[in-house]
Amino acid sequence: MNAPAPALPLLEVEGLSVAFGRALAVDGISFAVARGETLGLVGESGCGKSTTALALMRLLAGARIAGAARLGGDDLLALDEGAMRERRGADIAMIFQDPGTALHPMIRVGDQIVEALHAHLPLSEREARERARALLGKVGIAAPEERLAAYPHEMSGGMCQRVMIAMAIACSPRLLLADEPTTALDVTVQAQILDVLRDLVTETGMGVILITHDLGVVAGMTDRVAVMYAGRIVELAPTVTLFARPVHPYTSGLLDCIPRLDSGWDEPVPAIPGSVQGAMDLPGCRFAPRCPRASAACAEVPRLREIEPGHLVACWNAP
Ligand SMILES: Nc1ncnc2c1ncn2[C@@H]1O[C@H](COP(=O)(O)OP(=O)(O)OP(=O)(O)O)[C@@H](O)[C@H]1O
Ligand code: SF4
Ligand SMILES: [Mg+2]
Repeated sequence: MNAPAPALPLLEVEGLSVAFGRALAVDGISFAVARGETLGLVGESGCGKSTTALALMRLLAGARIAGAARLGGDDLLALDEGAMRERRGADIAMIFQDPGTALHPMIRVGDQIVEALHAHLPLSEREARERARALLGKVGIAAPEERLAAYPHEMSGGMCQRVMIAMAIACSPRLLLADEPTTALDVTVQAQILDVLRDLVTETGMGVILITHDLGVVAGMTDRVAVMYAGRIVELAPTVTLFARPVHPYTSGLLDCIPRLDSGWDEPVPAIPGSVQGAMDLPGCRFAPRCPRASAACAEVPRLREIEPGHLVACWNAP
């Protein structure tokens, strides 16, 4: 079955698939995000997290995309490019995993933010400048006035990341796709940025899809979590439930990889044996080669089913 829509769905994704050539990088995933909700998207490198976000932004040239993604009455995947351009930034914005690709190297940072603001908001030049300055301050950039005049190459990677975050939230989008938004930043700045995002969610009711490898960030920031493996959602649950009662063997493995405060320094953190390599081509459950519970039933693709209210799992041998 599909993921249940939370009360007041802001975004409803149904059967989203993305193919690059023959390879299905995302294979029919369904989920919803409510207003004011933060949904975590987790899973090993290559499982399709960024591809999912980029598909929703319609920024995947050369990929074949199927399914539906309804945001405020429209199917984003069916809009023409002109209509999509109007929605990008205003309704749906993204913090990209690779900041290098998102900022124009030849345009001053301030001008880039002002341009993003002008694209969707009826502001005078002065109002837009003022707002750009305030945004830089909000994401923790010291001396924002000076930074407005800088080119991206004059700033550190962490600083560029913060500028990108400022641009993404500039027009108060209804849905923010945040792809590893704080990975490049040091812990103090990371905490500050996460506070900014949390405040925006509370103030504006923005929905967020938060992609991260950091399960501590997931625990602290998200309301629900979708766990992806090789292009599919294998478990979806309220965050508290997922951490307390993970059911899918892959989720259990992921959570076992979190270093514990009470373990000794020299105790190795267990990793899930095997690799996701080649899993996209497997018939049946793609986790089978690595799964301690695999059985003959696993030759069939397991579908997501609800095992308790709001807790969905795709596994034949889940308790
Ligand atoms: N433009 C592309 N062309 C071909 N294959 C691609 C392209 N972009 C992504 N892929 C493939 O799609 C799959 C999913 O990649 P994706 O970048 O979405 O993973 P991810 O979950 O974001 O990983 P990471 O945690 O490393 O960021 C991978 O197998 C990747 O090689
Ligand atoms: S369906 Fe089978 S192989 Fe897949 S996770 Fe469940 S038990 Fe393991
Ligand atoms: Mg990625």
